[in-house]
Amino acid sequence: MSRAYDMVKNEPNRIIIFDTTLRDGEQSPGCAMNLEQKLKMARVLDQLGVDVIEAGFPIASPGDFEAVNEIAKVVKNATICGLSRAKRADIEAAAKAIEPAASRRIHTFISTSPLHMKHKLQMEPDAVLEAIKDSITFARSFTDDVEWSAEDASRTQKDFLCRSVESAINAGATTINIPDTVGYAMPDEYAQLIAMLFERVPNIDQAIISTHCHNDLGVGVANSLAGVKAGARQVECTINGIGERAGNAAMEEIVMALRTRHDLMPYTNGIETTRIIKASRILSSITSFSVQPNKAIVGANAFAHASGIHQDGMLKNANTYEIMTPESVGLGASKLVMSKHSGSHAFRERVKELGYDMEENSLGELFTRFKKLADSKREVFEDDIIALIQDHIIGENDLIKLVSMEVRAGTKGPQTAEITLSLGGEEKTAKVEGNGPVDAIFKAMREIFPHPDAELQLYQVKAVTGGTDAQAEAQVRLEENGKAVMGSGADVDTLVASTKAYVHALNKLVLRRESFNPQTEGV
Ligand code: KIV
Ligand code: ZN
Repeated sequence: MSRAYDMVKNEPNRIIIFDTTLRDGEQSPGCAMNLEQKLKMARVLDQLGVDVIEAGFPIASPGDFEAVNEIAKVVKNATICGLSRAKRADIEAAAKAIEPAASRRIHTFISTSPLHMKHKLQMEPDAVLEAIKDSITFARSFTDDVEWSAEDASRTQKDFLCRSVESAINAGATTINIPDTVGYAMPDEYAQLIAMLFERVPNIDQAIISTHCHNDLGVGVANSLAGVKAGARQVECTINGIGERAGNAAMEEIVMALRTRHDLMPYTNGIETTRIIKASRILSSITSFSVQPNKAIVGANAFAHASGIHQDGMLKNANTYEIMTPESVGLGASKLVMSKHSGSHAFRERVKELGYDMEENSLGELFTRFKKLADSKREVFEDDIIALIQDHIIGENDLIKLVSMEVRAGTKGPQTAEITLSLGGEEKTAKVEGNGPVDAIFKAMREIFPHPDAELQLYQVKAVTGGTDAQAEAQVRLEENGKAVMGSGADVDTLVASTKAYVHALNKLVLRRESFNPQTEGV
């Protein structure tokens, strides 16, 4: 049997944490990651203690295949999972991609709801049942650990769901996933669905039942926990809750709810919670997807007590307003970390502690940038260093690079920007007037590197830390033919940060065009 199945059989209250940040999360608009970023994130997830990493969808593109394959080579502890439709070619690609991993899982899925079967698959229910049997039997010829998902399970007819689950288990599936694909279910309803399967499917004890709850109505985490209370022993989730549309259930919220309310939910898992904040921050800097300040567990305000009454209570006894400690999620270490007096050794140690393995010359360049930053900024915080590292990583292999810029701003006008970019080594300059300096910068970008079909969907800037000398972190979202990319850039100069963010988004746009695979787009 599979490792996860054995684990739950030995410890019936053990919850398998299945992380799909690199698959369902990465699928969401603007969250695409390159190979290096995926490898970085996979290492972080492994250190965090997740049981299964869904590393990608290998048939989707050569880039996806390579990412799953490389992750399978470097991850030490977690089971590596590749997604596939109920098609032989998908399953073969997934099996090949995960081959180097010590523990391997193939995850195959097909829709079971009347709506999906009729309109998306255009298949009769009997043909779907046949496809379930064939795909799982085929997947089992590559590994003992096969997960099957009933896509749109929460809108599937109960009898048909029971028949599908029973035949999936008979065919050899060791995990059965019950996705609320469109985030439609309510917690008690989802719990009843899981409980119904335990009551009606005769061979249910031969598999682990899993939750996979999208957050369209804001109850993805509540549904997952309700599923666990009804008997599910695997939860599928993502860091920061990233994912299609409103996202997936957020791992940090599930894990901290299980820990904080152990009295109501006496379940265990393998997550080292003190690593949560680091994982969250690394993901947001990699994807340029920032976390809303009031987001549970990982938002900037999650442990901030602003009102006088609360602060007074906290000083007297932290339990008055704190249900979990900031330290339990890894906050607290992220205070003031360095100054301009910090040496190269301390800097390297800090980079390592943050979970980055960098080449010697990259570290050297980064240290020079850190010194420059520390000169202009009195105090350098952990977030500053993460922003610096990300900014450095972003630029390393880019086709388009910012060479120089000069901007004229202020009340007199006209506001202008003169920008020089390097396009694969060839420098091009444009000097443009705009309706304000940012407009001028973005227009110059379009002049140097035309991208008429891409629309600017979002531009925002925030301070990485407090103080007027703080670094600015800018984000730019571009959408081209329905596909969005998100770019970010950091600098003490807000306009430079904005330009870097735009350049980053342009580079992602180029990559996106190169990896576009019409065969699997939209699956
Ligand atoms: O939401 C969903 O149904 C999925 C499946 C592929 C598991 O992501
Ligand atoms: Zn999903």
